[in-house]
Amino acid sequence: NTIVKKINEDNFTDTDLCEAAKILREGGLVAFPTETVYGLGANGLDEKASKKIYEAKGRPSDNPLILHIADVDSLYEIASEVPESAKRLADEFWPGPLTMILKKNNKVPYSTTGGLESVAIRMPEHKIALALIKESGLYIAAPSANTSGKPSPTKAEHVIKDLNGKVDMIIDGGKVGIGLESTIIDLTSKVPTILRPGYITEEMLNNVLGTVDTDKAILKENKDKNYKPKAPGMKYKHYAPKANLTIFEGNEATVIDEIIKRTMEKQTQGVKVGIIATDESKEKYQCGVVKTIGSRKNNKSIARGLYEILRDFDDLDVDVIYSESFLDNNLGQAIMNRLLKASGYDLINVR
Ligand code: TXA
Ligand code: MG
Repeated sequence: NTIVKKINEDNFTDTDLCEAAKILREGGLVAFPTETVYGLGANGLDEKASKKIYEAKGRPSDNPLILHIADVDSLYEIASEVPESAKRLADEFWPGPLTMILKKNNKVPYSTTGGLESVAIRMPEHKIALALIKESGLYIAAPSANTSGKPSPTKAEHVIKDLNGKVDMIIDGGKVGIGLESTIIDLTSKVPTILRPGYITEEMLNNVLGTVDTDKAILKENKDKNYKPKAPGMKYKHYAPKANLTIFEGNEATVIDEIIKRTMEKQTQGVKVGIIATDESKEKYQCGVVKTIGSRKNNKSIARGLYEILRDFDDLDVDVIYSESFLDNNLGQAIMNRLLKASGYDLINVR
């Protein structure tokens, strides 16, 4: 039996989180909102508790979890080395949507790190997340609170759909602000390397660190069977909607024409087509099930709408989804990374 508890981010007290903190201290599972996506939390230093996370999500056990902390000093409690770069990044971006990979110390169990010698650490900015970490007195391991392979949850309703009956409590704090998972930067390599793009962009990280690399696989499929991405989670076909998703790139007007043409063809064959449009283009489609993801003038709105639109199309039982593409600069890099993964890298150029 899962308790669902509504909490208003701007108006709550520590007592509202008492029960959730107690569940976590006793080794249970609590889903909670963060500024990026909802997380599924457990005591990250308790082997048994973190194993429950893998069970509830159906997550492969070699895919490590992120430890969430509520103050910078906690870094020294779980990392064996804290390089200068980590301190500078923490100063600039924490609390916030940035995860750092550091060498773990022996307090952190391998069940949390998927057997790795490194550990992923993030201090979230969401008031409920921060207060829950503090109130519990723990380091909270929390992957996104979805069933493995489904789009990450940006609303409590998504978590309820995936995890009701499998976790002890779900805290409903409304819709999240960012909508895509945190940027991950590996600080154990010679040159700091971005393993997963997010709201904190390459440019922002460069401004603090001078040089950063980006894992090549972020915007391209790596067809080498022996290739192992450094973030184990990036190798799975993630964020996948039920329908087959195809992305079209090229001149905007040509893309729209191509999507319309293909949609009409499919419809005559009795295939139900979903279209991912923007505020700017939605009026142009007179066929298919059209949903707008946000405005091209505001990448933040597109990031925030992406996972919800994929889940909505799941509920509508469309057979295929056609999507416009987005510029892959700044936050657009994270948007295209998630969209490409959801499509299994099915990108068609219509230039
Ligand atoms: O925004 C977020 O980061 C959300 C919220 C809840 O904080 N969490 C999240 O967790 O997205 P998850 O488990 O869905 O994604 C964690 C990613 C995975 O791709 C995993 O492989 C990678 O981080 N990761 C974790 N520990 C790692 C490590 N030691 N080395 C390399 N990659 C690691
Ligand atoms: Mg995830």
